[in-house]
Amino acid sequence: MNDAEERLRAGLAKLPGRLAAHVLRVVEEATRLALVHDIDPEAARIAALGHDLLRAHSDERLLTIAAEQGHAVDPVDRIEPVLLHGPLAVPILREQYGVVDADVLGAVAAHTTAAPRMTRLQKLLFVADKIEPHKIERRPPVARVRELADRDLDAAMRAYLDYHVLVALDERWPLHPRTVAARNELVAGERGVANEAREAGE
Ligand SMILES: [Fe+2]
Ligand SMILES: [Fe+2]
Repeated sequence: MNDAEERLRAGLAKLPGRLAAHVLRVVEEATRLALVHDIDPEAARIAALGHDLLRAHSDERLLTIAAEQGHAVDPVDRIEPVLLHGPLAVPILREQYGVVDADVLGAVAAHTTAAPRMTRLQKLLFVADKIEPHKIERRPPVARVRELADRDLDAAMRAYLDYHVLVALDERWPLHPRTVAARNELVAGERGVANEAREAGE
């Protein structure tokens, strides 16, 4: 276990109990997916351990931290400040917990909205966070994402984002521009792959 992981594990005690339990379930999912997809398990664990560091903060506190960090706040972040808990954790993980891996930090930043050009580790964390068992209990359709995650992280991302868009319409949530961009990129990728497959078959 490296220093950052040790500090993050110790830091879990400062989170509300239910949140710490969620984080540990995400660590479990992330570790499993790392094995399945041949992704660095230590990076997956550290990303999972750090991803919800600021999740218990109030909207007001998140907006204050954003101002302190000089973080650019999108209009959608103003409507749903909870979306900021990913990106705003990045400087804290780097400075207070010694997390230096840019891919891990990018994973934490992207786990709330998704983003275009996510790496495999970043997709792994995004998906692991959504498919932990308690979340599936609350949202049974996400079980489909869990099934896909074992085979294809892009397909799992696409399925989750599709579900998210449907829920957003139903609940009148705004859609973050990064979420839309992430989904568009996945759709383009699927069509690109399909076209190449067709060409290869000719
Ligand atoms: Fe989160
Ligand atoms: Fe989470």
